[in-house]
Amino acid sequence: MDATIRPPTAARTGVVPAAGAAPSAEEFLVKCERDFTIVRRLGTDILVAQHADFRRETLERVLHVVTMFFKFDFGYQEQFMFTNRYPGCDAHARQHQRYVHELDKIKRAFDWRADVYDDVRRFYSDLVGNHIAVSDAGLVDYTRRELVS
Ligand SMILES: [Fe+2]
Repeated sequence: MDATIRPPTAARTGVVPAAGAAPSAEEFLVKCERDFTIVRRLGTDILVAQHADFRRETLERVLHVVTMFFKFDFGYQEQFMFTNRYPGCDAHARQHQRYVHELDKIKRAFDWRADVYDDVRRFYSDLVGNHIAVSDAGLVDYTRRELVS
């Protein structure tokens, strides 16, 4: 096995390790499509919240969904990468770790800062632009190219 590929980061981040066997490539791709739909919806919610009276409630809900997403889906993704010896597995998992820490910081600030809109928007924009659209999309491309029979 490639020495640079290490087991999922669950123990280091609080991410819940995926239970059971890793999904097939086809199952993984279907789940990614579903996740990308949720990601787009949350992005829209954040933009709409910019002009809404209920902005804080919307952001709270968005952060809750992102928390659940990180908790369960990062472990799922890491298990899939590890099982399939994805070459970028460790670097990708380290990015997950960084986003978990960033999210924690924003959630802590949420309770005492009057307006966390810009923090949430910046965080989400970074997550989508630098992780989902690059790292996750790269994993999806790799899965389609190398793992789908
Ligand atoms: Fe990822």
